[in-house]
Amino acid sequence: MPDFGNPTESAWDSLDASKFADEEALVADILKAFPLDERARSAAVRRGRELVEEARAAGQPKGMMESFLEEFGLSNAEGLALMCLAEALLRVPDAETRDELIAEKIRSGDWGSHQGQSDSWLVNASTWGLMLTGRVIGPPDDAKTGPVTFLQNLIRESGEPVIRTAMLQAMKIMGEQFVLGRTVKEALKRGRRMIKDGDAANFSFDMLGEGARTADDAERYFTAYMEAIKTVGADGDPKYAPEEKNGISVKLSALHPRYEAVNEPRVMAELYPKLLALTEEAKSHNINLCIDAEEADRLIISLKLLERLMREPSLSGWDGLGLAVQAYQKRAHEVIERLSQLAGETGTRLMVRLVKGAYWDTEIKHAHEEGVVNFPVFTTKPGTDLNYLSCAHALLMASPRLYPQFATHNAHTLAAIQMMAEGEGVTAFEYQRLHGMGEPLYTAAGEGGHVRVYAPVGAHKDLLPYLVRRLLENGANTSFVHSFLDPDVPVEKVVDDPIGKVEAGPRRHPRIPTPPRLYGPMRKNSIGVDLSQLGERRALEGAVAKLEAGPSLKAGPIVSGKARFENGAAVFAPFDLSLAIGTVLEASDADVDAALDAAAAFQPVWDKRGGAARARILSAMGDALEQNMDRLCALMALEGGKTFGDGVAEVREAVDFCRYYAVQAEEKFEGQTRLPGPAGETNHISLHGRGVFACISPWNFPLAIFTGQITAALGAGNTVVAKPAEQTPLVAFEAVKLFHAAGLPGEALHLLPGRGETVGAKLTSDPRVGGVCFTGGTETARLINRTLADRPGPIIPLIAETGGLNGMFVDTTALREQ
Ligand code: FAD
Ligand code: 2OP
Repeated sequence: MPDFGNPTESAWDSLDASKFADEEALVADILKAFPLDERARSAAVRRGRELVEEARAAGQPKGMMESFLEEFGLSNAEGLALMCLAEALLRVPDAETRDELIAEKIRSGDWGSHQGQSDSWLVNASTWGLMLTGRVIGPPDDAKTGPVTFLQNLIRESGEPVIRTAMLQAMKIMGEQFVLGRTVKEALKRGRRMIKDGDAANFSFDMLGEGARTADDAERYFTAYMEAIKTVGADGDPKYAPEEKNGISVKLSALHPRYEAVNEPRVMAELYPKLLALTEEAKSHNINLCIDAEEADRLIISLKLLERLMREPSLSGWDGLGLAVQAYQKRAHEVIERLSQLAGETGTRLMVRLVKGAYWDTEIKHAHEEGVVNFPVFTTKPGTDLNYLSCAHALLMASPRLYPQFATHNAHTLAAIQMMAEGEGVTAFEYQRLHGMGEPLYTAAGEGGHVRVYAPVGAHKDLLPYLVRRLLENGANTSFVHSFLDPDVPVEKVVDDPIGKVEAGPRRHPRIPTPPRLYGPMRKNSIGVDLSQLGERRALEGAVAKLEAGPSLKAGPIVSGKARFENGAAVFAPFDLSLAIGTVLEASDADVDAALDAAAAFQPVWDKRGGAARARILSAMGDALEQNMDRLCALMALEGGKTFGDGVAEVREAVDFCRYYAVQAEEKFEGQTRLPGPAGETNHISLHGRGVFACISPWNFPLAIFTGQITAALGAGNTVVAKPAEQTPLVAFEAVKLFHAAGLPGEALHLLPGRGETVGAKLTSDPRVGGVCFTGGTETARLINRTLADRPGPIIPLIAETGGLNGMFVDTTALREQ
């Protein structure tokens, strides 16, 4: 039986209830309890603007990255091309592919339009280089003389190695903006210099590497973390408190390839001991170890791991344990409240780094893809800013049980926190920034020497996911860093009151539809199941247990709405899996005849009903499938060996088919369209069914393909005789019952379970069949094709989807984790 092991339910699981909270209601609640009054709010805006003005006036040298992003953001083709290059180029081992990648990306941009635009010479030099490169490898240039042509010729003569080397170098420089060193020793050395120059108080070193895909990856990352903790620990003086020294940041996804909620028992058994070993090592040096926040689906499991650490006797008395909390998540406030309670209960002081969150784009796309009821994150930037401040206040109030660490590069956020901390009289907290970012802001705020710097350490090949997040984050026009030092953007625009913005609305993004509304007014998206939630997993397991405990399942032919199982023994050999849960009666010749007669007789009636009436039934079937999600997943798991995740995706696909074809039926098969008649005659066109369709489907998608074929045929005004795969008749039986319960007349759809050689062959050779839908092996499709060709009478359509395995070429530019 498929299951998720037996995870222990904890108070953390109840946070799932607010994972997808209604955004507008939540924002209203936050506003109601917002900690800053009008005066403090205006003061924060004023202070934020001052900080920007001071930073601009100080002529702070912008980071290379800030200058670069000002010129090449995500909003222009050149910026996108460069980000693609930065992300992929250094992974490519061979010169030829590198040249092709460079050529492809450079060709796609209009580099000349950026020439000399930036006030950073480095960016201008790069633009110049890119422009030349573009002209060398791009379309021929008309200019025949001048310095460009001279340089062009030079580059042409030197050939591609020069371009390649220059590009590699440029990409390395870009990557290195964010990495403090290749090894911890190197990073410590550079870090000491920064501390001496007043650019940092201390560091949290992050060993690059995340999302381990294999046990080997995980072992390698674990060793790197362990070595780093030892090195950083040995470098610090144990008598100083963790907040006064360097520490380590750990991404748990680096430590186990199955760090995900559905594998909670494995995570507890296999990942936890590794995490414990790392924290024990950190404790032995009395340094801070912070668990980074990753995707929202991993929040609860990360908190369960954290709680275990907090209750671990071997760690008691250590003040250095910490974690990051993402304020863009709707659950952030509750997380802080519970952490505070837990810290009190266990007597552990916890260091809490408050961040806005680095995976926003991923969260939005993931929620859309999974069809969950809402997003786990806010959809407006002011919403995130507001929640950050509200969480910051909660953190300050929870001090000293929680030690607040405010990680931001935003002047308004920083100013508002300063006001709140002063207001509450809390002084024991720290600011944090990422290496390569935020330096001018903290210098302007006079905090440059007091800030902890999060510093990635490692090789370029492990940098890429981190780099991509930074590029996305900073390239976005909502990003503070994006326009901070850009003199063309007025200070009032850079620092505005997010609270005022939220108050004025909109309180959710008007152009980001929630997952159920992904397809607009035309059709509802199918609802998914969030397997990261224990409650949802338990419901699926419960459905399996219920099926297993219930009476043995039976399936047989359903002709004109009547099911027949008499003498029902398993008449063909399904998979072992299915034998265990039910028996199936094969359709007899008489069943096939009766079904075809009834289907043929009813087809004109069904066709006459029109597309709109048929659409209503198909839509009702979509809803019915959705309502039976758990039971259908359980059945597919037991009969077809589907995992729950695949089962959910399959039910959703079936639902989407129903809704999609309902729309098509209504649009294309309702009424008539008048054609233009220049010669004075009147012509109308209307679409109609062809007759009876035989739908023959495979075992690997026992519900989705089965339903898809049937709904397409029915929507278009055909009646259907369906032969499911030998291995999965129970799922098909269930689906046909649902169709009929949704209002489909019994004569419109008949189920004929059986073997290909018997039932299938009889159907495809029968003259009453007006068309065949087939998904399966190429050989079988050929056989059906020949059978149809041999039939007397008109040639009927065969719609075949065969040989579903495509080749995929993955070259070295691909990100392996994806
Ligand atoms: P701002 O520009 O003010 O804010 C950017 C934030 O707004 C981003 O979170 C972005 O996703 C969000 N945003 C943008 N548009 C929207 C929208 N339409 N709707 C809702 N939100 C939106 N991140 C993690 O996830 N895990 C970590 O462990 C982590 N550790 C960090 C440690 C440090 C020291 C720092 C400084 C950052 C860390 N971050 C982490 C990254 C951090 O999330 C981003 O750097 C941060 O969000 C940028 O916020 P800001 O206040 O500097 O910038
Ligand atoms: C990230 O890796 C900084 O943890 C944050 O994006």
